Amino acid sequence: MSYGLTRLNTSSKKMASGQLSRAEALACSGCRHACHVMLYADTKAQLFGRIPIKHIILMQMRFDGLLGFPGGLVNPSEETLESGLSRELSEELGLALPISVEDHVDSCFAPPSSPSSSSRLITHFYVKKMDEEQIREVERAAASTAADHGLEVLGMVRVPLYTMKGGGGLASFLSHSFIGNARSQLVHSMLRLNLVAPRELHKALTHSLKTHA
Ligand code: GTP
Ligand code: MN
Ligand code: MN
Ligand code: MN
Ligand code: MN
Ligand code: MN
Repeated sequence: MSYGLTRLNTSSKKMASGQLSRAEALACSGCRHACHVMLYADTKAQLFGRIPIKHIILMQMRFDGLLGFPGGLVNPSEETLESGLSRELSEELGLALPISVEDHVDSCFAPPSSPSSSSRLITHFYVKKMDEEQIREVERAAASTAADHGLEVLGMVRVPLYTMKGGGGLASFLSHSFIGNARSQLVHSMLRLNLVAPRELHKALTHSLKTHA
């Protein structure tokens, strides 16, 4: 199957997972594009004064009841991927965050929503590290000035990265429902950026699969 790509020089591993480079993605003329970003910060805060929170990762409860990252549909014929993502962040978070090409992590084909749908969706994923105070400002703006607050976005949520006795924390968070491949974007980012120890992440993933309804 061809998606109108002019160059197909990705490795077979990348192709198998549906991944493609930013340039290859943009070369697909008939594709739709969506850009989302994981904003995160380090923190010294401790839950109950004893459980280190370590990092703040922002996700959102969407209008459809699913968890996802801030961002949305971008039209590359009118805006760059990054300026389109910035526009979505203004709508959903209530402030303009500059996003650059260096923040880009990967691009991949979303699974077809229906077998007959003709234009495929490519999702572009970005990660941006901020200061704790900047993250707090995002949370304040998202709950007050954001145009989409209470509409497309029901609220911002932080990801609990710790595991409590009995399995609460990250495992419970991962057992919720996510839009598209947002869950794997989260898991891969936590691993890649070393935000959670691989062993702990593995345990949380195993536990979340057991508890998933
Ligand atoms: P509208 O303004 O109503 O069009 O919404 P939007 O532009 O904010 O689009 P949205 O954020 O819903 O993203 C568009 C599509 O991208 C969704 O229908 C999902 O298929 C997919 N999507 C949404 N959030 C995520 C995410 O966090 N990760 C991934 N991989 N895909 C997502
Ligand atoms: Mn309390
Ligand atoms: Mn939006
Ligand atoms: Mn959105
Ligand atoms: Mn939109
Ligand atoms: Mn919208």
